[in-house]
Amino acid sequence: MNQQDIINEIRRKVDIVDIIGERIPLISRGKNYFCVCPFHEDTNPSMSVSREKQIYTCFSCHATGNVFTFLQNYEHMEFRDVLKMLADKVGIELKGYNYQKQADPYEEWYQIYALANKYYQNNLQTVMGKDARAYLKQRGLDESVIKEFEIGLSLDQKKSLTELLTKKGYAPSLLNTLGLSTGDFDIYHNRIMFPLYDLKGQCVGFSGRIYEKTDENKYLNTKETPIFKKGTVLYHYHIAKEEARMKKQVIIMEGFMDVIRASTIGYRNTIALMGTALTKEHIASIKRLSHEVLLCLDGDAPGKKATLACGEMLEEAGLLVKVVSLKDDDDPDTFILKNGKERFDALVQNAVYFRDYRIEVLKEGVNFRSDEEKVNYIHSVLKETVKIDDPIRVEVLLKNLAKTCEIGYNTLEKRFLELKEESQMDQKKLPFIEKSAPVRKKNKYQKAQDAILSAMIETNWVIDEVEKEHVVFQDLESRLLQSEIAYYYHKYGNVNFADLYTYLEDKKDLLSRLAKLGEMDSSYQNIEKKELYDYFKVMREYNRSQDIKRLERKMSEEMDPKIQAQIGLEIVKLRRGE
Ligand code: UTP
Ligand code: MN
Repeated sequence: MNQQDIINEIRRKVDIVDIIGERIPLISRGKNYFCVCPFHEDTNPSMSVSREKQIYTCFSCHATGNVFTFLQNYEHMEFRDVLKMLADKVGIELKGYNYQKQADPYEEWYQIYALANKYYQNNLQTVMGKDARAYLKQRGLDESVIKEFEIGLSLDQKKSLTELLTKKGYAPSLLNTLGLSTGDFDIYHNRIMFPLYDLKGQCVGFSGRIYEKTDENKYLNTKETPIFKKGTVLYHYHIAKEEARMKKQVIIMEGFMDVIRASTIGYRNTIALMGTALTKEHIASIKRLSHEVLLCLDGDAPGKKATLACGEMLEEAGLLVKVVSLKDDDDPDTFILKNGKERFDALVQNAVYFRDYRIEVLKEGVNFRSDEEKVNYIHSVLKETVKIDDPIRVEVLLKNLAKTCEIGYNTLEKRFLELKEESQMDQKKLPFIEKSAPVRKKNKYQKAQDAILSAMIETNWVIDEVEKEHVVFQDLESRLLQSEIAYYYHKYGNVNFADLYTYLEDKKDLLSRLAKLGEMDSSYQNIEKKELYDYFKVMREYNRSQDIKRLERKMSEEMDPKIQAQIGLEIVKLRRGE
């Protein structure tokens, strides 16, 4: 079997509906399945999964592909690893298969960060690392933690790393681009080095912490590069992935020290934002871990503010958000150090719903002896309550509110129901599926062309007919796609949507042409010859009218009356259909 055969065989043995269904709840509707799209901030089920075509398509963000691309994007895996995983699942041996790993343009960058990482770790174990080791020990981070989190040390020297890496042949300017050196001197001096990883777990930068008295910033982070963006990385994501899925909960903390500390008492479903604001990209990645998110940020004022902001965004994205709030001067790191595992476990167990937390915060500072403040407070709590779906929780909250404010429950309930109705009216105004761009209506010819291409993919005998009848596609992309479909079919004996997605992986234009066909609802699996030949006819007529237009243009530009006459004759012939 050749490589493409192996890929196809594996793909055919798995069902994309099962693979996606194992990860995201699917709703069956008609012949397709629908789910909330994991590749953008989605709350409606905008993604359709087709068992027939073995592909998925999001009508909102247009993410599309087959089972391989789904797993690559969803699990952040390389193609070869997805292939291996599925091969194991269906019991196919991958021996003899050597998929050429696609050259990653940043391969060299990863190598350099990996070298620097090794170097820093090694420094920590030398005599020059004595004080740093003492600092880590005093913070309660032992050998095994240092190893697990690959903690290292940059030396108190001008250019030890720059020299090491330039000796290995890396250009000083590249080291500058990577944020490790000015070109002449090291960026990091005498700091404890924490490697930072991308979502796949590759080192893409560092955060260096001071450990002796100095006026410098506590942490110095590597500058942003194309492979290290604060808005996309989440510290510890690659490790948290497994456990968050198992525990069905991911815990978000502020700093990586918190994550490291939490790991010492057995929490590995934790990630850290590293002192930056939560972005849409973060949320999309978090969504892939679990439906439930626990916010466990610092206890100080900025931490509270961040809890409110993050909670709001995460809830809006359709996640279930809970909150652990710490005392003013604590962060998870210090809390765990002071109070130990059991007390932290209890905190996690007793986490409150984000809405309840929000309502608690609203209460802070309200003077209940002032009628005005009391009324304002009641209104703002009611507004929050409307966002809660669980009627039991709503009732409990309203009862509490009635008690705290000494006001009748019925009055509160009446206002609550009014607000609820208003908000539902607002929601109805939103269309069920947000289409990003208005879809331009296809004309008769485009419809025929799309139908023929789809039919070629879904019903392979159509390919022979297209070739026999010399059907000509007008635009370049359709022509190229047609010849790729035919080529694939003749080489492998059959062709379908899902296999083409992998085969055309490197040809972005053709892939998007294919995706447009995949989005179509119609099925051509049982197309009849008569229908097909009707489409052929539409194409021919269109092509002929295009030819006539071209000739007419040519004739009007032609000076020589003899040639003009010749062209005129050709036009007449075409009109007659000869
Ligand atoms: P914190 O100041 O809460 O750090 O900043 P921490 O986790 O408590 O660290 P320790 O206990 O003092 O060692 C939270 C995060 O904000 C970023 C870092 O990523 C840190 O993990 N930060 C903080 C910086 O980037 N620069 C700074 O100067 C401070
Ligand atoms: Mn701390």
